[in-house]
Amino acid sequence: MIDVSDVYKSFAQNHVLKGVNLKVRDGKSMVIIGASGQGKSVILKCLLGLIKPNSGKILLNGIDPNSSQKNSILSKVGMLFQGGALFDSLPIWQNVAFRYLHGKQKINASEAKKIAVEKLERVGLKKSFADNFPSELSEECKKEWHWLEQSQPNLKLYFLMNQLRD
Ligand SMILES: Nc1ncnc2c1ncn2[C@@H]1O[C@H](COP(=O)(O)OP(=O)(O)OP(=O)(O)O)[C@@H](O)[C@H]1O
Ligand SMILES: [Mg+2]
Repeated sequence: MIDVSDVYKSFAQNHVLKGVNLKVRDGKSMVIIGASGQGKSVILKCLLGLIKPNSGKILLNGIDPNSSQKNSILSKVGMLFQGGALFDSLPIWQNVAFRYLHGKQKINASEAKKIAVEKLERVGLKKSFADNFPSELSEECKKEWHWLEQSQPNLKLYFLMNQLRD
């Protein structure tokens, strides 16, 4: 559950968040929609503990993402950034398997590649795509691959940023 109460955030004289309240219960989705510069990314960054609000309370499954306990909840959060946010210098399979090649969940590279290829196949993408680079893909494809990297059974919360077009 996401519970945000009375959150304020300003950057100098720019008062971006002015008393935001929202609750998202388990199993539910919420869309935050608005014109450019209205604070959608700022509220998501506050939820991720990347920006500290000036005041107000944020709880993700009861944990404040700005507290010392934040890692226990942030390790369960998937984040899809606007524009895909893939690593251009890494082939697709290394992007999809990023968390298995680095950090705490690291496993050997051939196992990691196997997982990446399985994920690609699960969404109907050919094994041969695995060695392509992000620059060879359309914007929509990039997001799809980034999403695959984020889709982990242990994740409980997903935050997605996307642009709407006319
Ligand atoms: N780190 C920062 N320092 C100073 N100002 C910031 C910072 N981050 C965001 N802002 C300002 O906060 C306001 C809201 O920005 P934000 O990125 O949340 O907009 P948005 O609603 O996500 O827009 P878009 O639809 O273009 O993604 C903008 O005026 C922006 O300039
Ligand atoms: Mg934004």
